[in-house]
Amino acid sequence: MLEIKDLHVEAGEKEILKGINLTVKEGETCVLFGPNGSGKSTLLAAIMGYGTCKVTKGTIAFKGQDITNMTVDQRAKLGIGMMMQRPPNVVGVKLGDIVKVAGKGDDSAIKNAAKFKLNGFLERDVNVGFSGGEIKRSELLQLTAQKPEFVLLDEPESGVDLETIDLIGAKVHDLLYDPKACGVGNAVKRHVASLVITHTGQILDYIGADCAYIMRDGLILCSGRPMDLLKDIREKGYGECVKCRMVKM
Ligand SMILES: Nc1ncnc2c1ncn2[C@@H]1O[C@H](COP(=O)(O)OP(=O)(O)O)[C@@H](O)[C@H]1O
Ligand SMILES: [Mg+2]
Repeated sequence: MLEIKDLHVEAGEKEILKGINLTVKEGETCVLFGPNGSGKSTLLAAIMGYGTCKVTKGTIAFKGQDITNMTVDQRAKLGIGMMMQRPPNVVGVKLGDIVKVAGKGDDSAIKNAAKFKLNGFLERDVNVGFSGGEIKRSELLQLTAQKPEFVLLDEPESGVDLETIDLIGAKVHDLLYDPKACGVGNAVKRHVASLVITHTGQILDYIGADCAYIMRDGLILCSGRPMDLLKDIREKGYGECVKCRMVKM
């Protein structure tokens, strides 16, 4: 579904991504671990095509189409959605209006605002004066309206309280899984693929994950099973990751 080849990205005249190769298949959830400043958010921005970062080499393909030079709206229309780590305030644009646009006429997400505990927020400017948890819930309401085929989740659980994590986890689950496929006797199948950045791994309790990568200094250094890598990072830190050390030698 997503295929990144030898991606080099510059921001502020500095090379941030130094040759990323990454594939995410249909219905797959891949996790990106890595210390602060390793380039994780820059990679997601490059896939979504927003911000000031510039691709200097390599390609990003989505569903077989080269999207490297497409605009953000073109990528969104193809089915890519994103929950940003720190989304901007959008002064003058009401949350209800952006959700309506994202829903392309389908107002079911608007009607479900209460389920995201966003009653009374639809008339407010997007993110202006929102708390950390409210921003995350508003991002998820917009994504739910958009119905993407592939989602980028940048630290969805960061800075939110335990109760909010539960709500966010449930809504991210609903976004990725086909509700019709859930139920007795049916295999629970994801119908939306995702690339998820997490430091704590908490979100994985709700969505599960198929593969994980560790990023450092603009490169993917190793891959493995998500829970194995998380355990390794918790026990030994990034510097001591056994697999990374092997790659470096
Ligand atoms: N527009 C920019 N100008 C200069 N440096 C940037 C810009 N965007 C990101 N960087 C730098 O790129 C590095 C990686 O940032 P980021 O992708 O946010 O890391 P992560 O998400 O892994 O914490 C950081 O050192 C950051 O300061
Ligand atoms: Mg980041």
